[in-house]
Amino acid sequence: MDCDVRDLGLAEKGRGRIDWASREMKVLSLIRERFEKERPLAGIRVAACLHVTTETANLLATLRAGGAEVAVCASNPLSTQDDVAAALCDQDGIDTYAIRGEDQETYYGHIRSVLDHHPHVTMDDGADLVSTLHKERPDQVAEVIGGTEETTTGVIRLRAMAQDGALGYPIVAVNDARTKHLFDNRFGTGQSTIDGIVRATNLLLAGRVVVVCGYGMCGRGVASRARGLGARVVVTEVSPVVALEAAMEGYEVLPLRAAARTGEIFVTVTGDTSVIRGEHLEAMKDGAVLANSGHFDVEIDRKALEELSVERRRIREHVDEYRMPDGRRISLLAEGRLVNLAAAEGHPAAVMDMSFANQALCVEWIVKQRSALEKAVHTVPGDIDDEVARLKLQSMGIDIDELTPEQEAYLRSWEHGT
Ligand code: ADE
Repeated sequence: MDCDVRDLGLAEKGRGRIDWASREMKVLSLIRERFEKERPLAGIRVAACLHVTTETANLLATLRAGGAEVAVCASNPLSTQDDVAAALCDQDGIDTYAIRGEDQETYYGHIRSVLDHHPHVTMDDGADLVSTLHKERPDQVAEVIGGTEETTTGVIRLRAMAQDGALGYPIVAVNDARTKHLFDNRFGTGQSTIDGIVRATNLLLAGRVVVVCGYGMCGRGVASRARGLGARVVVTEVSPVVALEAAMEGYEVLPLRAAARTGEIFVTVTGDTSVIRGEHLEAMKDGAVLANSGHFDVEIDRKALEELSVERRRIREHVDEYRMPDGRRISLLAEGRLVNLAAAEGHPAAVMDMSFANQALCVEWIVKQRSALEKAVHTVPGDIDDEVARLKLQSMGIDIDELTPEQEAYLRSWEHGT
């Protein structure tokens, strides 16, 4: 195998954790069994740029079971689980380029290594793979049949590329499947973000003021889980409709400049840049804790934190404490990178099961469609979404009702009224 991982000696540990996650990924396991028989991806080279976690390992094994050759690199320098990377390389036959804590140069070097495999399909989480391919290797773009994108931020970037006429092949926005964003973004980000904050700090959330910046699907998850632990949750938003939803859900809604004065733990989940800035840092109380769970590390202005402070120390793993000239201490978790993946293990396997079932089925769909798809960002076919939900319910032992013929006819008719 061609690999760049921290330590192959960690492979056994990784194996156990991958197998543990696999038990929670029942839908993906069913797809894997079918793929083993049908081999729908035979001869296809897949390049994946994903968080290298136990859940991702199970997705990649599913693609391999379908006959694909797979190479993977990290989609974030701090999210790689080194034991998983070792197991992928040592035991699973997957060319793996990922080292936790890698610097920017190594991160992009690893993306290039994956591109050296000349993929037919790209699988991205944040669109760094697709953008590097288009920027640095325009001649290779024509070799790609299509790609998938996992996350909101990546879909936004890819739509911008398509808008500019710069997208060289079709991409399926897996993030936009209902069985992805309604669950992964909400319940996955919700639980794992709180998990990351608690693992990093061991702070009690009960009675604390938690400020959630952004009330999209991820923000909803974080706000509801923080409230579930007894926090007093404040939401900040820029969209009037979304702010109204948060208000009617019972959260206090404030502009960040006001929330900055009372907040104790701040979590950014907006997908945008420079959300917590110098002006907010100036207003914060002693002991404020800052965490980001948006895809990129641009939501908290770290440079402002560095410039405004007089001292920084790593007070415990994943916690950098900055001291301000007036003595206030503000702590930044996980260097402002995804706190749920850097300080915890990312979303639990049971929710990644649905996201990655969509990924596997979408790769199969892309390969079946071949060149029939337009060079645009496509939504996940409705039947894939429905199938993932059906299988997930089945795996959870949940049965649901069916419409009677009379009800179906009623829904199709327009004559009935008052
Ligand atoms: N994104 C968020 N959580 C994840 C996980 N556990 N594995 C891969 N990607 C993720």
